[in-house]
Amino acid sequence: MKKMLLALVALFMLLPAMADEGMWLPSLIKSRVKDMRANGFKLSAEDIYSVNKASLKDAVVLFGGFCTGEIVSEKGLVITNHHCGFDAIQSHSTVEHDYLTHGFWAMSSEEELPNPGLWVRILVRMEDVTERLAAGETADDIIRKAQAEGRNYHASIEQMYYGNQQFLFLYQQFNDVRLVGTPPSSIGKFGGDTDNWIWPRHTGDFSVFRIYADKENQPAAYSPENVPYRPKRHFKISTDGIEEGDFTMIYGFPGNTQQYITSTAVRYVQYDSDPMKIDLRTRRLDIIRAASEADAKIRIQYASKYANIANAWKKWQGEVLGLERLNTVAAKEAYEADFRRWSADKPEYASLLDSMQTAYEQTADWYWLEELKNESVRTIELSIIAADVAREVNPATAPSVRNAMRHSGYRDLFFKDYDVNVDKALTLAVLKGYREYLKKYCRVDEELEKLISESGSLEQFVDNLYAQSLFTSAEKCAKVNFEQVQQDPAYKLYMLFRSTTGRLPRNLSNVPAIEQWYRPYLKALMQFDPERPFFPDANMTLRVAYGTICGYEYADGEYHTPLTTLDGIIAKDNPAIYDYDIPQALRDIYRTKEYGRWGVEINGHLTVPVCFLASNQTTGGNSGSPVLNGKGELIGVNFDRTWRSTMSDIAFDPTICRNIACDIRYVLFVIDKVGGAGYLIEEMGL
Ligand code: ARG
Ligand code: GLU
Repeated sequence: MKKMLLALVALFMLLPAMADEGMWLPSLIKSRVKDMRANGFKLSAEDIYSVNKASLKDAVVLFGGFCTGEIVSEKGLVITNHHCGFDAIQSHSTVEHDYLTHGFWAMSSEEELPNPGLWVRILVRMEDVTERLAAGETADDIIRKAQAEGRNYHASIEQMYYGNQQFLFLYQQFNDVRLVGTPPSSIGKFGGDTDNWIWPRHTGDFSVFRIYADKENQPAAYSPENVPYRPKRHFKISTDGIEEGDFTMIYGFPGNTQQYITSTAVRYVQYDSDPMKIDLRTRRLDIIRAASEADAKIRIQYASKYANIANAWKKWQGEVLGLERLNTVAAKEAYEADFRRWSADKPEYASLLDSMQTAYEQTADWYWLEELKNESVRTIELSIIAADVAREVNPATAPSVRNAMRHSGYRDLFFKDYDVNVDKALTLAVLKGYREYLKKYCRVDEELEKLISESGSLEQFVDNLYAQSLFTSAEKCAKVNFEQVQQDPAYKLYMLFRSTTGRLPRNLSNVPAIEQWYRPYLKALMQFDPERPFFPDANMTLRVAYGTICGYEYADGEYHTPLTTLDGIIAKDNPAIYDYDIPQALRDIYRTKEYGRWGVEINGHLTVPVCFLASNQTTGGNSGSPVLNGKGELIGVNFDRTWRSTMSDIAFDPTICRNIACDIRYVLFVIDKVGGAGYLIEEMGL
């Protein structure tokens, strides 16, 4: 009885996606428009995506390959997140011009700062090429032909539904992207890692860039002669405000979801992969935190590394809790049991789940070991710099690459943020962790054990490593040649642990031996469960998600409302706590209440809106995405999810999964009142 009930509950959770689940392909959005309009969308499918006329897609950019951005003016102005622009901002920061601490606003186009290596891409079109490929055209041919259509066109073919469909994505890439402005970190990263993945949230997580083009409005390498890009389309901004229940839509580049995986794959994430990764990162974070508390220099050196390690670490913890709470494994098992019954008399599908199970059993160990190495021995920075230098001084490396590396300043950048004692402690910890995990699963790394026993103990091995290696300082490794590098113990360690099979597929289920079964499985699911609205897993291609502005019940009796304000920032403000120490300018504005046009009456008093919640399905890569209202106007900039949403990459729960956006009115308020860059507000047409 209990089992039946469980199965029933489980089934209910997997029922046809409720309103807010989904990351839809823009070119196929027609099938959703009726539902969208029922929820408050006022435009047409053609307004979202069109190849014949300018549409909203022309105002969305893939920012640097890892984030999303949106064009907000006729002169190529782009808004993205502060954490997406972070590297660019940091690279311009020096002790004299510390833009991270004080912020930066260009007051004219001459002051906008170029960023070598940073690019944005705008989608020209997407196209289902499944049939062309089936008819014998090669992917290379299709890509080559498409790229020949325009200047600096980049094409790729991406798999949807594990390869049941293949889509061509054709982009135009712009390589001259300049920094226009950023708030200080005390606004752009307000709350730091303490508030990361948390609601209520008060982070002004935005920064501003501009795309430049040549005189013909075509992509060009950086040149002082370049002029602001004139986009086909830019987003109109709405400052009308938002209310719970309003329609919202997100247009961006979500990176990775796996909503169709079997219970076995969920188990792997929940019990094998996430806990191991969390534990190893906890050990590293403990070391960095202790060292940072003792030494301000180390805190700055390791701030960005810490934030990177902590971001996924925190997300995975939320994910495990979420999967437990939703009982996703049991829900998937019940679903699979039904599938088995349904497929029993269909020879092409009857043994699918068994084949998948066998493939998992044959593959999971290998994948886990690779993940273990990625999270432990492959994080050793001494080995990483040794490998980089090896590439630079190796006579077999292409001369152009060697030359570029020599002039890139990568060594200085590395050692600027490197502390040998911290690194040594980290190395000891990850080697220890690596051995422990191997032991737990009755394995040994014989080559490593040989090295350790030659030294006597692990501690002695690490001592010797740091005493003998030339890579512990910039001076020592300044003039090494390739022979010396090859003899160096840090390089040997790199060679011992390096991957010999290329890049790890992004999830266990994407390992080809397993993935091949997902192709027929997805096909079968679409027949087995025809009511379920299927959408392809996120894969860093352009998608539309839609939902509503809404709060949620965080815990029994504890409802979280969807909007935060400046009052919340002031309540958290504390000069003694690094993450909550706001700029004096903000305190002053709050005291005088001179909010200008950005002041809003909320709950009976004047304040400024800061962040809001909505029910759109988003994931990593959606950072910086435009959040739009029913008329397609910009109301916010997406930057996070809530703690209880983080399992949504595997199982989306519409009752509690929420994305977090920075209210566009806060962005404008900060640009205007804190940054003093009112000319940008005018440029945005306000
Ligand atoms: N959690 C957000 C995202 O996944 C923001 C990360 C940057 N902020 C930070 N405090 N580490 O990437
Ligand atoms: N901050 C994330 C990013 O960098 C978005 C948050 C999420 O994973 O939903 O893309």
